[in-house]
Amino acid sequence: MDRIVIQGGAKLNGSISISGAKNSALKLMAAALLTDEPVVLTRMPRLADSRFMGHLLARLGVSVEEGPGPEMTLHAGRIADTYAPYDLVRKMRATFNVLGPLVAREGRAKVSLPGGCAIGARPVDLHLKALEALGAQIELSEGYVEATAPKGGLVGGEIELPFASVGATEHAMLAASLARGESVIDNAAREPEIGDLADCLAAMGAEVEGAGTSTIRIQGRERLSGVRHQVVADRIETATYALAVAAAGGDVELEGGRWEHNKVLWRAMSDAGVTVEPSDAGVRVARNGSQIVGTDIETQPFPGFPTDAQAQFMAVMTMAEGTSVIRETIFENRFMHAPELTRLGADIAVHGNEAIVRGVKSLKGAPVMATDLRASVSLVIAGLAAEGETVVNRVYHLDRGFERLEEKLSKCGAQIRRESE
Ligand code: UD1
Repeated sequence: MDRIVIQGGAKLNGSISISGAKNSALKLMAAALLTDEPVVLTRMPRLADSRFMGHLLARLGVSVEEGPGPEMTLHAGRIADTYAPYDLVRKMRATFNVLGPLVAREGRAKVSLPGGCAIGARPVDLHLKALEALGAQIELSEGYVEATAPKGGLVGGEIELPFASVGATEHAMLAASLARGESVIDNAAREPEIGDLADCLAAMGAEVEGAGTSTIRIQGRERLSGVRHQVVADRIETATYALAVAAAGGDVELEGGRWEHNKVLWRAMSDAGVTVEPSDAGVRVARNGSQIVGTDIETQPFPGFPTDAQAQFMAVMTMAEGTSVIRETIFENRFMHAPELTRLGADIAVHGNEAIVRGVKSLKGAPVMATDLRASVSLVIAGLAAEGETVVNRVYHLDRGFERLEEKLSKCGAQIRRESE
């Protein structure tokens, strides 16, 4: 198993180019099931998660080709199978999003209940409610969901989400695009990945209105066409490198990063004493000598503070002057990084969904363990600022969601390398 070894203390200077968004790419890949024509995704991040999704799609009969460069071509000329087995779904929750497209196109599908990061219960009840609203009949048995469309296929319907779930909104959009008539998604999630999926589905021929607001209307089509679509820049990767600069110090241009997708984070970082500003290339982040100041945050659905940047923000706050309160409202059990940060000398007390972080003068390098995707990168951020050597074990979590992390950071001066056991 690989590990990442960091010699802390080096400042970051230069530029980092931001990849396409993992969370968007995975749903765009699922959209390829909706058409018998090729779907070409550009600025595709090369990640363990996208490879994994590719394996599942290949099993369903989709031809998946990578390259040239960061491009992926998916062609579902014919669906060979509508069964997604446990061993191909359990590792990653986004694979569950193949259910809707399969039912929409083939009339039925059997998909295992998903796995994914161990960050709380994460059920799929809202996904299933959405498909039911489009006329699908759902049966659950032995860890599998079997969905069947009425004769003539899925029909447009009213989908009211009690919680603005990102995955359920996307799932509903995918299925509704190939359903007869109009669907309305109320209390839809507003994350930028939703807008990206909407753009792609619209370019495939569906009529999509209101993405980015709480009400999305979709006119489904009997057939959708192929598309060439650029994946939106990863706002979480952008946030992560911005927070790495905050922790380590220096001055970095995040090329392609979208300013408007992280406004609440930028405000929190400015409050904490970090320079963050929009630039021609994307976003510029700098901290040269100024002390980080303790700043409170609370995670919220977009446009609020993203839960996927909470661990990274906490890593920075461990070195702040004063105390910060970090409240997690999206997922239970998403403070698994706190005990690992404590191993580096951080002072963090967790009470339920609240973490009280008392800033310390400096962190000291130590061996730590990655527990989930965003938690592991928070340990890298802490390691960049800690005195001495930090070894992050179990980095397969990192590889799920960060493309060429060591390369991007070392190009800016970080002392970071990967070791294989
Ligand atoms: C997506 C992102 C993830 C991010 C999250 C919130 C992907 C692949 N993952 O996850 O990185 O942290 O959005 O921004 O895009 N819930 C239910 N029932 C459901 C669905 C969700 O109760 O049917 C609950 C979950 O348990 C969780 C909350 O809703 O507590 C948020 O989940 P959701 O917005 O659906 O996140 P995901 O789509 O799983």
